[in-house]
Amino acid sequence: MLILGLETSCDETAAAVVEDGRRILSSVVSSQIAIHHRYGGVVPELASRKHLEAIVPVTTEALEDAGIGFSQVEAIAVTQGPGLVGALLVGFSFAKGLARMLNVAWRGVDHLEGHLHSVFLTDDPPSFPFVALLASGGHTGIYHVAGPTRFALLGQTRDDAAGEAFDKVSKMLHLGYPGGAVISRLARRGDPERIRFPRAYIDKERFDFSFSGLKTAVNQYIQRCGDDLENRRADIAAGFQEAVVDVLVYKLVHAAKTTGCRDIALVGGVAANGRLRERIYQEGTRNGFSVHIPPADLCGDNAAMIAAVGYHYLREGDRSAMTDDVYSRYKRA
Ligand code: KG4
Ligand code: ZN
Repeated sequence: MLILGLETSCDETAAAVVEDGRRILSSVVSSQIAIHHRYGGVVPELASRKHLEAIVPVTTEALEDAGIGFSQVEAIAVTQGPGLVGALLVGFSFAKGLARMLNVAWRGVDHLEGHLHSVFLTDDPPSFPFVALLASGGHTGIYHVAGPTRFALLGQTRDDAAGEAFDKVSKMLHLGYPGGAVISRLARRGDPERIRFPRAYIDKERFDFSFSGLKTAVNQYIQRCGDDLENRRADIAAGFQEAVVDVLVYKLVHAAKTTGCRDIALVGGVAANGRLRERIYQEGTRNGFSVHIPPADLCGDNAAMIAAVGYHYLREGDRSAMTDDVYSRYKRA
């Protein structure tokens, strides 16, 4: 089944063509980062407008790259939530209209389920059941995945998402938005041991996260630096990153041990982080788990992952209705 995937939940307009939920024929991502950069974060109103401008050209490009025409699209999968309502509505309404015009089935899917499926778009997908750490800019949680549409949330952040913490620390260091890539680059020049920031494990037996205390500790440290901040920036970035990574790695490995899963996966925008990838591979394999992490371009927001999860619903005849609407907040899995 050839599925057209569409994603407009935040600041990326994306379209992709995926065959049978596994094989990517094309994946186009048009980022709005350059537009939102100067405001230090995503401006919802601007995002909606830019999605509106980009959705048709991005979709056309995805079909061209895949070498197919509109008539060969067999079904459509589109992000329904969570995300910015105005942004989501652009992709969702477009998908509805297109599905009606082409007379094909369509399904709204959860953005987080999409991230969890990004790992199936690789040559080395995990076997069920597996545990996954999903760390993005809007969410951080650990999932038990028992089947293609069977996701159970084991624990999640009580405050900030891991990516959000990267973005905020970047802002504190005046390095701009989004912060993940900048902080990880800067951290390579720093010593992760020099400044020891607090690790918030909360309860070591549970899978909840908290990053707001760490964010405050980094902020206080920065305030105390005064004129010496410039010299300590790389060490701050490295120390902060190590504190985040330590907790994420511990919780994922612990979840695998607790649930008895052999396979573990790392997904979401933060999964592009080199240090996190390296540590998950190390700790995962050391503990005898099979580790699965998608390439960096599939970690950030994209539409291929949306098509991938949509396939499993559509295959079972589970479709959306024209009266369905988008949602902004996280659904409890
Ligand atoms: O999944 P994603 O593209 O969008 C959401 O669904 O939120 O994740 C974006 C988040 C941002 O907070 C960004 O700073 C973070 O992922 N990120 C990173 C890296 N690349 C992106 N965080 C840490 N290290 C990176 N290399
Ligand atoms: Zn995302």
